[in-house]
Amino acid sequence: MPPSFPSFPVLQPESPEAQAILDLFLSVLGISALIFVIVTGLIWRAIAVGRKYDRVPEQEFGSERKEIFWMVGPVIILLWIGAITTKLILTMDAIPLIHPAEDEPADVELLVTGHQWWWEIQYPGTDVVAANEVHIPTGKKIRVRLTSADVIHCFWVPQLARKIDVIPGRENYIWLEANTPGVYQGRCAEFCGNQHAWMNFQVFALDQADYEKWLSGAGSAAATIAASDTDAEAGEKIFFAQTCSNCHTIKGTAAVASIGPDLTHVASRDFLAGGAIENSPENLGIWLKNPQAIKPGCNMPDFKLSDEHVKQLVAYLESVN
Ligand code: CUA
Repeated sequence: MPPSFPSFPVLQPESPEAQAILDLFLSVLGISALIFVIVTGLIWRAIAVGRKYDRVPEQEFGSERKEIFWMVGPVIILLWIGAITTKLILTMDAIPLIHPAEDEPADVELLVTGHQWWWEIQYPGTDVVAANEVHIPTGKKIRVRLTSADVIHCFWVPQLARKIDVIPGRENYIWLEANTPGVYQGRCAEFCGNQHAWMNFQVFALDQADYEKWLSGAGSAAATIAASDTDAEAGEKIFFAQTCSNCHTIKGTAAVASIGPDLTHVASRDFLAGGAIENSPENLGIWLKNPQAIKPGCNMPDFKLSDEHVKQLVAYLESVN
């Protein structure tokens, strides 16, 4: 039952920022490789000479020129690496508060909150609250404001942007941008508890028209249940009787809590539980039956629901979508 989660390419940039990071990585790797080859070459040469003459090669002491070279050389290389790295970090700085007037305007603003162990994505100015899925328009600069509801997490979509720590009581900012429409994989990249490995998310880069369509759909209230759907009706009663509504929101209903993920459009998501299982009615049932078996330690309790109640809750959650 473990999901076949999509591959996680870290060296295939799909944004100008990710490309700049890869270029920096390759520059530093190139310099390091060159130094490695020179140093190991000299060691091999010393070994070869020592073997040939079966003695310790002649030792050199106190060559001032060589000593200066060995000291100044590395300093120059390190300063250069420091300079190109700092320059790149500064260009990626999306902090909007230091110089509001000179601020680079963002096409879209997003608020991402890390939770143990899932991601909450809000679209300021709208009602949209998503979980573990970030939708963005392609080719636009998105300023992401990040904070945490509990411990330190790290938001990382290697194909699109730098890593950024997500810290409680503090706001960090990054730019997110995608060159082409597609689905990009994200991970929590900071150990944040025993389910850190299941804190995955996906970024969907859409054409502008598709993005706007998605945004209006995602902001809409839950669909009403068909009167003939008795399972869904029974599921709705369980949802409110079993205190699901104390933690979750379903837009358009009395459930407005935000401790757990917003479930208004849960059936449309690719994965459940931060990537721990693929999303399907069957898997949603397995998850509801015993969340702790799938994601031990998560905040979703095991309500000891009967199979019948699980079936009805699944029918409800699938129908409100
Ligand atoms: Cu959140 Cu690791």
